[in-house]
Amino acid sequence: VKRLAVLTSGGDAPGMNAAIRAVVRTATHQGIEVVGVRRGFSGLHRGNMAIIGARDVANTIQRGGTILLTARSHTWRTPEGRAKGAEYLREWGVDGLIVIGGDGSFHGGYYLQQEHGIPVIGVPGTIDNDLYGTDHTIGYFTAVETALDAVDKLRDTGASHERIFVIEVMGRHAGHIALEVAVAGGAEEVFIPEDPRPVDGVVATVQESLAKGKASSIIIVAEGFPGGAQGVADAIEAGTGLETRVSILGHIQRGGTPVSSDRVLASRLGEAAVYALMDGMRGVMVGRMNGEISYTPLEETWEKRKDVSRDLYRCAKTLSV
Ligand code: F6P
Repeated sequence: VKRLAVLTSGGDAPGMNAAIRAVVRTATHQGIEVVGVRRGFSGLHRGNMAIIGARDVANTIQRGGTILLTARSHTWRTPEGRAKGAEYLREWGVDGLIVIGGDGSFHGGYYLQQEHGIPVIGVPGTIDNDLYGTDHTIGYFTAVETALDAVDKLRDTGASHERIFVIEVMGRHAGHIALEVAVAGGAEEVFIPEDPRPVDGVVATVQESLAKGKASSIIIVAEGFPGGAQGVADAIEAGTGLETRVSILGHIQRGGTPVSSDRVLASRLGEAAVYALMDGMRGVMVGRMNGEISYTPLEETWEKRKDVSRDLYRCAKTLSV
């Protein structure tokens, strides 16, 4: 491998810069040149690229967002869009592409490799933690901390006003963030898409909480749960008449300085991605499972489903007694 390209794609995630930095610095260490593609696949089919060196990624490890910019590309979903991107990669003499992103981005990389034979390595970068083949994705730890900080603050108001707070967190179709935040935030209830139960039960939960002497309640809802936070809040108000507030945390969960766990994960996976290309691997995502670097075929990362921790789900219920 003489020259590789790197891009970030899909939703930004804290730690993406640390991953870019790790790719660039590992490549430099190995005498490989790096082409940085701007705006993900959207930029790739337009040829938005430039050589980046070790100094260009200085002072980025602590920064949220992505210095390469990102996008969700519609054109890349067409074979013509991908052919254009492949042409640019060939023009630039690129021997492989490292894609930092989530499952949509991995689909993009997978088809590029299938159709044009360009080796692709995926690095899991998404706050959702919804990729099979890695225990955690880059950005997840920071998103959890950000959401937890918001929950702690909302709890002050909830307790002072003796209100019910229903808080919606991100995660797309997965409940990883919700579950982690529910346990760490001491929530009374958590609703996740992995257990799409009727919301009526929440009325009894809130009433029982009141009977036990809890004047306020925190309920966490994953955005992927049918009906979202509003659906849960409506059920509570209808069933109890209690003052309920909904707070949808939204994109705040995607920003901010990455916590150390995300920086370290990103550093290890960025390094591993370069070595994987050098070792002749292609079409795999590098991940970390039980502390060890793992390699999973790109298509398995979205075809196989990573379940939430059922132990943690049980724990959340037990501790809300
Ligand atoms: O995948 C990351 C994520 O933040 C999801 O949690 C959320 O469903 C989605 O992206 C929001 O996407 P957008 O930023 O395009 O609105």
